[in-house]
Amino acid sequence: MLCIGLISFVYSLGVGTNTAETHPKLTWKNGGQTVNGEVTVDSNWRWTHTKGSTKNCYDGNLWSKDLCPDAATCGKNCVLEGADYSGTYGVTSSGNALTLKFVTHGSYSTNVGSRLYLLKDEKTYQMFNLNGKEFTFTVDVSNLPCGLNGALYHVNMDEDGGTKRYPDNEAGAKYGTGYCDAQCPTDLKFINGIPNSDGWKPQSNDKNSGNGKYGSCCSEMDIWEANSICSAVTPHVCDNLQQTRCQGTACGENGGGSRFGSSCDPDGCDFNSWRMGNKTFYGPGLIVDTKSKFTVVTQFVGNPVTEIKRKYVQNGKVIENSYSNIEGMDKFNSVSDKFCTAQKKAFGDTDSFTKHGGFKQLGSALAKGMVLVLSLWDDHTVNMLWLDSVYPTNSKKAGSDRGPCPTTSGVPADVESKSADANVIYSDIRFGAIDSTYK
Ligand SMILES: *[C@@H]1O[C@H](CO)[C@@H](O)[C@H](O)[C@H]1NC(C)=O
Repeated sequence: MLCIGLISFVYSLGVGTNTAETHPKLTWKNGGQTVNGEVTVDSNWRWTHTKGSTKNCYDGNLWSKDLCPDAATCGKNCVLEGADYSGTYGVTSSGNALTLKFVTHGSYSTNVGSRLYLLKDEKTYQMFNLNGKEFTFTVDVSNLPCGLNGALYHVNMDEDGGTKRYPDNEAGAKYGTGYCDAQCPTDLKFINGIPNSDGWKPQSNDKNSGNGKYGSCCSEMDIWEANSICSAVTPHVCDNLQQTRCQGTACGENGGGSRFGSSCDPDGCDFNSWRMGNKTFYGPGLIVDTKSKFTVVTQFVGNPVTEIKRKYVQNGKVIENSYSNIEGMDKFNSVSDKFCTAQKKAFGDTDSFTKHGGFKQLGSALAKGMVLVLSLWDDHTVNMLWLDSVYPTNSKKAGSDRGPCPTTSGVPADVESKSADANVIYSDIRFGAIDSTYK
């Protein structure tokens, strides 16, 4: 009996016992009722070391050659460790508020950014079906300069982090496993419960990251990607309605292929007020004044959803989203199939959102249930210029003007040294019927 038990775990992504995994608590409201939730940090940020010793399986941006000669051996040798949330990752919670600090100098390492998931209990992610509903939260972006991105979004991860579909995964949601998004990221250290160590290439410009031969794809609803200068709301759809592993060029640009070569829509259909022609709406001292906190209301109108509406609330005043103001394009202040095709046409962009199914596919992805992600990151690929500056940097096209940040801003080495103390505070998350959460 024992033998059968042992040989059945060929890869077996287990957990360490050096640090107890104690999740920060976070309350939120569902239909007006207070829910006692908790958050967990993604497995990518965790210390991975050998079972029963403190030898690193992964250090800096490399897997150990001895412990991880291949993924199967690596999985047998290595475990994921519990997290010291404030000391290592700069993550603290209090009541309904969660603070993510940008750079944290811990006793063993320097941590940059974080990605956390909302749990409903110690080992199960909280699932949301946003169809026909409203998702509201308060955010303080005043301490997020150009180049940083405080993101609140939903993805089609498995509720258990993948333990049921991939029995090799013993760590599960408790240890933040199972991530996927519409970029089909290949920088994940574990996919489908297996180390992504085979063919791992360290990133030349990031001493903490690399890319493996596999990626992890799924639909993504970016309710909020923002700093104090710009913000965007962006749905992205994928062909598969659950987390799906890709390999090589089928992961698109991240796998060394073409940008639109994956089963997902990497660009999405974004509404960024500045990019859509209103340069006086969102920012420090503007109509939505990012110098102090405000509430972001996102309405998923229709079940299945056909339109995404945005409102802000600040100092007790409801502020309707700005209208687009682009030559040759009708005016919109919400995201819908009509907006998406009109925007892509006006800007001359590839419409991969419509190609992968548009709102019809989005409705199906939302209906599957999505996990809530709360993150803070900087961008080692294109310095976040796609959010807050001119990108491509030499382009004169209307759609390339996304924000007022200099094209030289957002370089990770600069922001990590000059803005190490940056942070984002998410608070008072509310979910419920349309118009029920903010009035
Ligand atoms: C920007 O949005 C505000 C608020 O909706 C509006 O008053 C203003 O006219 C808009 N500006 C442009 C250029 O569309």
